[in-house]
Amino acid sequence: MSTTIPTLAELHAIGAAQQPTYPDAAAVDRAVEKLRTLPPLVFAGECDDLKAKIAAVSRGEAFLLQGGDCAETFAGATADNTRNKLRVLLQMAVVLTYAASVPVVKVGRLAGQYAKPRSSDTETRNGVTLPAYRGDAVNGYDFTPESRIPDPQRLLEVYHASASTLNLVRAFTTGGYADLRQVHAWNSEFVRNSPAGAKYEAMAAEIDRALTFMQAIGADPDEFHRVDFYSSHEALLMEYEHAMTRIDSRTEQPYNVSGHFVWIGERTRQLDGAHVEYFRHIRNPIGCKLGPTATADDALALAQKLNPDNEPGRLTFITRFGAGKIRDGLPGLVEKVTAEGVEVAWICDPMHGNTFEASTGYKTRRFEDVLDEVQGFFDVHRALGTVPGGILVENTGDDVTEIIGGGEELDEHGLAHRYESVVDPRLNRVQSLEMAFLVAEMLRKA
Ligand code: PEP
Ligand code: CO
Repeated sequence: MSTTIPTLAELHAIGAAQQPTYPDAAAVDRAVEKLRTLPPLVFAGECDDLKAKIAAVSRGEAFLLQGGDCAETFAGATADNTRNKLRVLLQMAVVLTYAASVPVVKVGRLAGQYAKPRSSDTETRNGVTLPAYRGDAVNGYDFTPESRIPDPQRLLEVYHASASTLNLVRAFTTGGYADLRQVHAWNSEFVRNSPAGAKYEAMAAEIDRALTFMQAIGADPDEFHRVDFYSSHEALLMEYEHAMTRIDSRTEQPYNVSGHFVWIGERTRQLDGAHVEYFRHIRNPIGCKLGPTATADDALALAQKLNPDNEPGRLTFITRFGAGKIRDGLPGLVEKVTAEGVEVAWICDPMHGNTFEASTGYKTRRFEDVLDEVQGFFDVHRALGTVPGGILVENTGDDVTEIIGGGEELDEHGLAHRYESVVDPRLNRVQSLEMAFLVAEMLRKA
């Protein structure tokens, strides 16, 4: 394993997809140099801990829950937002833990999820064409020429917003807010007080009895009062990720210290591209998205390059086929990768293969499609005897209206009510909890 990583110039020479075109190269250099001087946001040892947990996921001894915004925004990096997001993820995790009877590894799409790949470089509205919005890490969402110019100063803002989010997450998860009884009380409230929750009364009552039993016997482990929670984002922007890569003093190996887990997106997973080359060198646990065009040979070549030592927990394949394609597309992939003895955790992203534009113009997804893809994921893995390791969702703790369907039966016309995502639609609080209970039922049928 090499202890150096390619230079930024070398990575750009290879060709990095989905990068902004900055107007001022000197300003980019200044931002990168500044970033290089800033302290790590996460520690290499924490990344190693997560890697060990993902290894357990790949053996079926843990289940992974990854969730959060499609795209974080600077304006959204508030205490309320972070708390609500964390709360709903913890609520989901309790339900899944009970159903799966194994630990749930909790990973937020937060504290760094600020850069987005786009299918088009430009966006046209009413005859006006401007550069596409690429996330707050790159440019502004406002549709004006000034706002859409990529600004490298934003990379520093990503660092500071991520630092404050992560600080809050660390405080919440270790400072008592994540207390298991409290989280379960929130779930009970959801089941009691919302029509969408009423269906899950039986399971909530079972969890209640389990907790009461624990209390009766005087069991009060540390795990009841604090949780391990990890950060993740798509490592897209070469400047930021490279500047945040440091040599760990314990192991003398390079780690990306801007997040515990980083992943390669569907649009940047070219085998000979700069992203794969960069990821090859860092020692974090990493993910790679695999969409319906990925072949088994692509997956094998990626695994060979990204995890040549076949280290357990190092590589996660995040499949995102779409509800209509997963049952046909996934088996061939899993079968061949498994037959070759490749160590990998399989995670289901039931969001990105199920996006469409509603008649009202909003980008949306159907709750039922999301669930159907997860069901397909479980079905395929069960049939093959392989391990369905977890799910990745785009969600929020707020009562937004971005995904249609679910117990509240949101329809296309309801989307306008509170649509806040700047990129992809997210499950709202109620839909997230419903999903957790429904996935819990799938897990229990296992
Ligand atoms: C995402 O996870 O927000 C994303 C862009 O996914 P994908 O790369 O799978 O399209
Ligand atoms: Co998305």
